[in-house]
Amino acid sequence: CGIVGYIGKRDAYPIVINGLQRLEYRGYDSAGVALFSDAEIKLCKTKGKVADLDKKCKADIDLTANIGIGHTRWATHGEPNDVNSHPHISNSGDLVIIHNGIIENYESLKKELTNRGYTFSSDTDTEVLVNLIEDVQKNDNVKLGKAVQIALNQAVGAYAITVFDRKKPNELVVARLGSPLAIGVGEDEYFIASDASPFIEFTKDAIYLEDGEMAVVRLGRDVRVREIKNDNLVDAYVQKLQMNLDQIEKGGYDHFMLKEIYEQPSAIEDTYRGRMLVKEGIIKMSGIDDHLERFLNANRIIIVACGTSWHAGLVAEYIFEDLARIPVEVEYASEFRYRNPVIGKGDVLIAISQSGETADTMAAIKLAKENGAFVFGVCNVVGSSISRITDAGAYTHAGPEIGVASTKAFTTQITLLTLIALKLGKEKGSISKSDFYLYLQEMDLIPSKIEKALEANKHIIEVANHYKNSRNCLYLGRGYNFPVALEGALKLKEISYIHAEGYPAAEMKHGPIALIDEEMPVVVIATRKGHYEKVVSNVQEIKSRKGKIIAIVTEGDEQVSKVADHVIEVPDTFEALTPLLTTIPLQLLSYHIAVMLGKNVDQPRNLAKSVTVE
Ligand code: G6P
Repeated sequence: CGIVGYIGKRDAYPIVINGLQRLEYRGYDSAGVALFSDAEIKLCKTKGKVADLDKKCKADIDLTANIGIGHTRWATHGEPNDVNSHPHISNSGDLVIIHNGIIENYESLKKELTNRGYTFSSDTDTEVLVNLIEDVQKNDNVKLGKAVQIALNQAVGAYAITVFDRKKPNELVVARLGSPLAIGVGEDEYFIASDASPFIEFTKDAIYLEDGEMAVVRLGRDVRVREIKNDNLVDAYVQKLQMNLDQIEKGGYDHFMLKEIYEQPSAIEDTYRGRMLVKEGIIKMSGIDDHLERFLNANRIIIVACGTSWHAGLVAEYIFEDLARIPVEVEYASEFRYRNPVIGKGDVLIAISQSGETADTMAAIKLAKENGAFVFGVCNVVGSSISRITDAGAYTHAGPEIGVASTKAFTTQITLLTLIALKLGKEKGSISKSDFYLYLQEMDLIPSKIEKALEANKHIIEVANHYKNSRNCLYLGRGYNFPVALEGALKLKEISYIHAEGYPAAEMKHGPIALIDEEMPVVVIATRKGHYEKVVSNVQEIKSRKGKIIAIVTEGDEQVSKVADHVIEVPDTFEALTPLLTTIPLQLLSYHIAVMLGKNVDQPRNLAKSVTVE
């Protein structure tokens, strides 16, 4: 979910509604706002997108107000409908809340409150929380900030909340545990949001709350930050934001996803800028340099991540073992955290996360740290929660990724992890100096090779047109390109809702081959480097069962091209670097199929970009 708040002298409504639009990547199944003026709270909520909310608000409520809060939701408790949408109001009608996260003990709290006469109109945990705050306020006769604090100490779960009290209309109370929350500090005005994008054009000064902190944001005085548990005052650190407005706009592309696909050459350059010094023949990364011994002496590296980031982790497994000769395990963070894993002091855990906020990945990190492992973060969002709780880390610097289906985050994660593997390989002597230099030179060429791969776009549109009505699709790859096959299938599933499966090409004969008939498109990654002959045999096996083959091949390929129904070329490169190129046509293929099917490419149904619930 995404939350926005404003208190100051400007019109609150446009700030809140535009802010929600920028936060829609966090969830978009329902939305709502609450505005305050003339001693009244005006509420408007609806199932659907922020654009639907905007229409409804314009039709239903008076929009003049200098105080407002808003929410865009990814449903956890209660189906997405008007009633379950946030904001939620307390029984007295005085308190209003927006909440991102889950209150796990809400049922027992609800029971107690029901016994005390409270009634509930929604199925949400949030409505329970706002009434709990009201109950504390009344019984203990305390101010809003204190009441929020006492209530949160009774709640178990995760949250980022903003609470407003009709009787105290010069302040907003905010708190976070597990879900992000930023406070934009202006002149006589404050902004609240899940990330800084809603207020970037108004102020570059922001306070990011840490987990377990809350703040009373009152007009006419500085923000006061406290620890929720023990009430200690914390020095509120005001950070200068680097982000600008252009980075979060579409810049002439039809969709963010397409823009982000095309940004990959420059995003990758940004990842290695200042780190990979080709002429000098070195890789500099302070996060690694400062802890080199931990990496070089590591028993093994455990990589944890979710979704696309997990696929980047799988690619990294191949690269680390190949180049740095360190054993690697890759795990879904959600499995790792609950399976009593064996972790020790000699282990290095690498957590990969675009958003740096994914709840399962956060929990996996905490578990590893408790067990003495050294934790290294690979995040894109600067200042995100994961980047702050890890022992060390490196940012991918891909710039804001807004399309829900991840593209440039994936290739920049692979780039960064490749740099790390190369650096460790050189330090350990597991790759020769001359190979190391050759890799640096080749890495340097990757952005221009991606440009070349993007030139296939027109041809990919034709291929997409051919297969847009398929019901299933199989993706096959071997070695370094097996994770790419998984990622290709995930991209198609996510945005076009066509069922797709990624498989190691050789495993096809142990099951998926049964699915192949003339209706089944099979995307095969068959680049010249990397088990080419074996993949050619797999292609033959598909052909003899009448499957339709879309082959991703190296420029100038002749063998596979003879058999495949469609061929998409990518430039030649080192085997370990092929994922950076073969991923590109697969992203474009899913993109065009989804557009042709009229799907919402940037905001696919049921998904969210940043999943801060487990
Ligand atoms: C969500 C997104 C995916 C992403 C995954 C992990 O499911 O829709 O695109 O790969 O979360 O997110 P992270 O921010 O941790 O990389």
